[in-house]
Amino acid sequence: RDQYGVFGNPIEHSKSPVIHHFFAELTQQPIQYSKFLGDLDSFEQQVKTFFEQGGKGLNVTVPFKERAFQLCDVLSSRAQQAGAVNTLLIGKNGDIFGDTTDGVGMIRDICDNHSQSLTDKRVLVLGAGGAVRGILEPLRDAGPSTIVVANRTLSKAQALADHFHKQTTPITASAFETLEGHFDVIINGTSASLDGDLPPLPDSVIKTGTWCYDMMYGKEPTVFLKWAQTLGANGSDGLGMLVEQAAESFYLWRMQRPDTCLLIQKMRDDLS
Ligand code: ATR
Repeated sequence: RDQYGVFGNPIEHSKSPVIHHFFAELTQQPIQYSKFLGDLDSFEQQVKTFFEQGGKGLNVTVPFKERAFQLCDVLSSRAQQAGAVNTLLIGKNGDIFGDTTDGVGMIRDICDNHSQSLTDKRVLVLGAGGAVRGILEPLRDAGPSTIVVANRTLSKAQALADHFHKQTTPITASAFETLEGHFDVIINGTSASLDGDLPPLPDSVIKTGTWCYDMMYGKEPTVFLKWAQTLGANGSDGLGMLVEQAAESFYLWRMQRPDTCLLIQKMRDDLS
């Protein structure tokens, strides 16, 4: 069996082995996918050893995505933009290739699984950390009319807006409290949900038909989705994004695109 795995710290909670073994069965691919606890001192060496021992591909999660980016010999253009990678594969000549699949995974979940169009929409993105940096290029390329990045620390939002701004899709920065106007789609990429916190948004960002997406997920709706619901907005959590980014990694490794709907449904059922 070809060897794959995921490095993170912590790693125990990772659902990636279950997801990739599910995909492998669906597509009849002979793979073994393991969890590895990344060492904060010697992560780079661990990755090199994995590939030297014949490993074919890796996922990388918190807190190693930026360090993985640094160790790659070759990077996809979307990884170069994101400054982080979540997928590694080894080339025939031993080069390590890095890519990031989070952004495309989120766009697939929003547009395909939830049938939401982003074309010509006003999109608000909350947060300006690594998670948001990883999705801005695919989001911009999905064709919204404008993107506003709002963050607690305004300077971080401004840096991302400057980096990803294009004339065809203007990207501006804002603090939460000073957001003006309403939006068609709101994407929460802050880690505030993890602490049960809600960014201090004016209710006026939501209008009839606004659709809200939280990159986090859990058994219960996140505080952000509950808030959206009380204002009459529909939306989704990020369970589908988790599965879709994995499907994109699987495709990079095996050139096979597994069907994701079944697994998303099964994982949703398992949560409750
Ligand atoms: P990640 O990899 O999940 O993006 P990160 O790079 O640490 O993690 O970024 C976390 C993001 O969530 C940041 O935008 C952070 O805001 P700051 O840049 O001001 O720190 C945001 N965040 C975290 N906790 C938050 C909270 N309680 N309220 C609002 N924003 C929060």
